[in-house]
Amino acid sequence: MPNIVVVGMQWGDEGKGKVVDVITPHVNVVVRYQGGNNAGHTVVVGREKYVLHSIPSGILHNGCRCIIGSGVVIDPASLIEEMESLVRRGVTLDGNLFISRNAHLIMPYHPAIDRASEAKLGARRIGTTGKGVGPAYVDKAARVGIRMADLLDERLFRDKLEHNLAQKNRLLREIYDAQSFTVEEIFNPYLRYAGWLAPYITDTALLLSRWMDSGYSVLFEGAQGTMLDIDHGTYPYITSSSTTAGGAATGSGVAPTRIHGVLGVAKAYTTRVGGGPFPTEMIGDIAEQIRARGHEYGATTGRPRRCGWFDAVVMRYAVRINGVDTVALTKLDVLDQCETVKVCTGYRYGGDIITDFPEDETVMQKAEPLYEELSGWMSSTNGAKNEVDLPAKARRYLERLEELIGVPFCLISTGAVRDDTILCEDSPLTRWFPSVRSSLL
Ligand code: IMP
Repeated sequence: MPNIVVVGMQWGDEGKGKVVDVITPHVNVVVRYQGGNNAGHTVVVGREKYVLHSIPSGILHNGCRCIIGSGVVIDPASLIEEMESLVRRGVTLDGNLFISRNAHLIMPYHPAIDRASEAKLGARRIGTTGKGVGPAYVDKAARVGIRMADLLDERLFRDKLEHNLAQKNRLLREIYDAQSFTVEEIFNPYLRYAGWLAPYITDTALLLSRWMDSGYSVLFEGAQGTMLDIDHGTYPYITSSSTTAGGAATGSGVAPTRIHGVLGVAKAYTTRVGGGPFPTEMIGDIAEQIRARGHEYGATTGRPRRCGWFDAVVMRYAVRINGVDTVALTKLDVLDQCETVKVCTGYRYGGDIITDFPEDETVMQKAEPLYEELSGWMSSTNGAKNEVDLPAKARRYLERLEELIGVPFCLISTGAVRDDTILCEDSPLTRWFPSVRSSLL
């Protein structure tokens, strides 16, 4: 049974939640392997809208087992709130949700440091979600992080908390001029969280290995996107985890040799939240129109997203870094009213034309996009379920994107709900999961 990674190819918010939701009925397990509650995966099921932050969206399918892997950082208060809200809406967690013993905790001082550090950075701020994700990964790399398993050992937890807090309080008070914390105000609520979460905490890498041995199929659900990857993104304007496909192995404890393919998700245009370079950023009315039509506001923070044209340089890079086999393209319908649609095929920098993504920060900041302009289709694609139902000009747009990025599309999303999806015949997706055909056609 195939084990597949679903990964964002741009700066996050590509619509991975919906794509995972479409594929989930055909797998047994969904794994989150990096990031934290900075993510916001929106899934619309019938008339119900769910926004998931830390729990894999597979949880909405009864019987699908969901894992929060060791590469994820967990804010227990936020996770419990998410769990309670799902239970209230009839979702079964017991027997379906498993949390890695090795996942690191986001502690109350992490969001405090995140926000204080952003304030101090001024114009150079990253534009983080303020959830404490970066500072939690800092502690993990510095080997002072507190893990889920530590929560289950009261004395060890207190010991680590006291040690960390002494340093964090100095940092907060003396460097950031911010409020400090007492041990008790963290220890007591965290003990309560421990009681709540204990039944779900386990050795998820071992579970996954056993499940794979017995023939289960696993979907690895990436959060954020390639361009926010700590190694391969637009550093320093990135998140602090491995958002690319390689992160699926390290963040779950599954060997790379057991992963069979990578499905990339991208929007028919581009968005980004927060600071950092964005060569194809739109300016003026068109940006407003796309933002309004695409509801481009952060699912976690509500911030307006920056909008831009499709960037084939970024997409080719994402194909290369992740080994993308096939692409699910989302939000085609958002471009329905555009008279022309632009596609960036390369950048001009100095006197040079660049067609490979420049890793150099300065080049990326100053790169000038080279556009190809295609005629818009000016008619509705919303809810289209077959490629033949698309206007000829929309099909031409899709063909050109495919040519430029060099891998085939497998899904085209034309609306928010599960059924507003075109399944492209004979893609790697239908080879991995032939039964997707009967559920979508
Ligand atoms: P952090 O992950 O909160 O540290 O934020 C770092 C950068 O990643 C900022 O530019 C955020 O806007 C961006 N970011 C984090 N999570 C997401 C996401 O789920 N979607 C899009 N951008 C994100």
